[in-house]
Amino acid sequence: MKSILFGLVGVLLMGCQQNPPSNNTTNESNIDQKVEELLSKMTLEEKIGQMNQYSGFMDFTGPQPDKGRAANKLEHIKNGLVGSMLNVHGVENVRAVQKIAVEESRLGIPLIFGFDVIHGYKTISPIPLAEAASWDLEAMKRSAEIAAEEASAAGINWTFAPMVDISRDARWGRVMEGAGEDPYLGSQIAKARVNGFQGDDLSATHTVAATAKHFAAYGFAEAGREYNTVDIGTSTLYNVVFPPFRASIEADVKTFMSAFNVLNGIPATGDEFLLRDILKDKWDFNGFVVTDWDSAGEMVAHGFVKDGRAAAKQAVIAGSDMDMESYHYIEELKALVEDGEVEEKLIDDSVRRILKVKFELGLFEDPYKYCSEEREKETLYNAKFREGVRDMAKKSIVLLKNKNELLPLKSSGQRIAVIGALANDKTSPLGSWRIGADEETAVTVLEGLEKYDQNTYSYSKGADVVTGETSFTQELNINTTDKSGFAEAVSTAKSAHVVIMVLGEHGLQSGEGRSRTRIDLPGVQQELLEEVYKVNKNIVLVLQNGRPLALPWADEHIPAIVEAWQLGTESGNAIAEVLYGDYNPSGKLPMSFPRHVGQVPIYYNQKSTGRPFLPSPGEVFWSHYTDEKNSPLYPFGYGLSYTTFDLKDLTVENTYADDGTVTVSVSLTNTGKRKGKSTVQLYIRDEYASVTRPVRELKSFEQAELEAGESRKITFQLTDKDLGFYDNNGKFTVEEGSFQVFVGEDSQAQLSGEFQL
Ligand code: BGC
Repeated sequence: MKSILFGLVGVLLMGCQQNPPSNNTTNESNIDQKVEELLSKMTLEEKIGQMNQYSGFMDFTGPQPDKGRAANKLEHIKNGLVGSMLNVHGVENVRAVQKIAVEESRLGIPLIFGFDVIHGYKTISPIPLAEAASWDLEAMKRSAEIAAEEASAAGINWTFAPMVDISRDARWGRVMEGAGEDPYLGSQIAKARVNGFQGDDLSATHTVAATAKHFAAYGFAEAGREYNTVDIGTSTLYNVVFPPFRASIEADVKTFMSAFNVLNGIPATGDEFLLRDILKDKWDFNGFVVTDWDSAGEMVAHGFVKDGRAAAKQAVIAGSDMDMESYHYIEELKALVEDGEVEEKLIDDSVRRILKVKFELGLFEDPYKYCSEEREKETLYNAKFREGVRDMAKKSIVLLKNKNELLPLKSSGQRIAVIGALANDKTSPLGSWRIGADEETAVTVLEGLEKYDQNTYSYSKGADVVTGETSFTQELNINTTDKSGFAEAVSTAKSAHVVIMVLGEHGLQSGEGRSRTRIDLPGVQQELLEEVYKVNKNIVLVLQNGRPLALPWADEHIPAIVEAWQLGTESGNAIAEVLYGDYNPSGKLPMSFPRHVGQVPIYYNQKSTGRPFLPSPGEVFWSHYTDEKNSPLYPFGYGLSYTTFDLKDLTVENTYADDGTVTVSVSLTNTGKRKGKSTVQLYIRDEYASVTRPVRELKSFEQAELEAGESRKITFQLTDKDLGFYDNNGKFTVEEGSFQVFVGEDSQAQLSGEFQL
């Protein structure tokens, strides 16, 4: 991955400004008043400038604009025509650009610096999908806090995270960046992440403004193909797509990003229903909306508007406050207002929102508050972050299979073969979307294992996953032919007590622009696995991947399978601790893992069909495949532990008529031989309703760590917000009727009860 450098303004570097211009330092306590004062001094051009965001000059996270337009950026900052920069980071760079805005523009309004701090800046946490597998909200909040602290020390004050898009499609590369398929879990995680990034005090130097993205329904791209059309019904939109966005507002998220896709025929960036009616009016969101990269301009390609001028008009009327890299706001809005096609009050509304966030960050008091070189030096890669990301990494690992207790590994006297290019890769485990990170900074599985030095290890690559250069912006070359390392891998495996095979996707095989039609082991890795299996069946398969994979052969043959995603900087240490049992795995899948890609989209909270069951053996007229089961290989919420848990004595206390609650309790016992953590999940089924409800819906969960033999009563309370749903007019309703409740350790939980409303 290319690091994002910033060079052109190097010559402008000067000392950190101590006393910002006096027009930037007002002491009024009321931010709204300060905003109004400033707004009244601004020309129309300057207002539109605040709505304009440019990318840094040396690198890009999207298609590059033509040279002529990009060349004017510095000049534009000087003329007050830019409100924000993205992809400018590092104190030296941020200060240099801020200095132009603050010292050389007429009003000296500071820029806000946005960057994709998705799962860490330099010290990298697990990819967000992996973190979601922890179901540990505190740990995820901590992970976002670490990211904010490190990134803010490098001059950044706004992250384009969290991505809160629900997705049911493992083919879509960006599932790595979200929290999986479930709106309830996704909402809890959205809040935890926003709270982590923004902290209690947005004006503190170690916190950053967060972004709920991509509004809306980007995760429902047809056929899982990136940027593709989305056509979904009202019920899914309100009940599945919206909740995590709404939850982000509850957590006071400061910004939203609109999505690239069309939703039911309207590009999200120009969708008045989404941005104005829902977000700003109904949900009363008072932060600002940034477009995605050129998503305003892309409305032309979508066939929605005829040109850039019409795109700017549509986007601003719809409610997009800041334009990322389309250039249409800065080029078209002034004339649109002067010609009476766009009301200036819309511009004022956008500018108010943007200025407010800048005031809240404290940028007017000190535009250089994130610009301490000393702090940057002390903070980046500070050892204190390692513990946090390692903790997060361990909690993200999901034990998918463990036959004959092959795991945990014996800690001495074992000859262990370690096979697979990913076992020895210091970059791939960083995953995708970590554009601030340095290559080769992850601890490998091999390095992690070697710390357990009472066993011996022999490593053999077997086969490359990718060949040649890897880059965030370029297609990868997957190795589909070179098997020249197979023989050595097979011979290494032959004499080992245990073989650890680290296989899966390269870290850049998921992420933006990385859709796949096959979700198996890429390249020749499946063949490698089968060849090794022929000589040694004691295989622990450690998977590194950024999306659910379909691995039916491995599930049938391989005794132990560990889902280790891309776990970031501390990857190998976390994996080794789990393999050796120093951490008892506790992760639970946040997305269903299919048996075959043909089942996708596959998700646990599906609706029932009219013919859900096989009527009699051999009959065909029921909802099924003729060549595969309906069920996933591993369901949502699933994950094993080195101990076992038993759940019993489910009781339902229905006091809804009196106090609006239904209380469900169960008894949880650790029935195994070691301490472990269970994630007890509660699902409901509303048996009939005016709009059909899913066969199961997660409504609550609780994590409990129990000693061997220990029991605990777990109690859940359900209220209207859990029992109701949005009807097809977007109205929240709770209907009378019969409900089932299921409690267990995954979405196929069998322990059940019922109640009536
Ligand atoms: C992505 C956004 C990202 C933006 C800025 C776009 O391509 O879709 O999620 O925040 O680039 O890097």
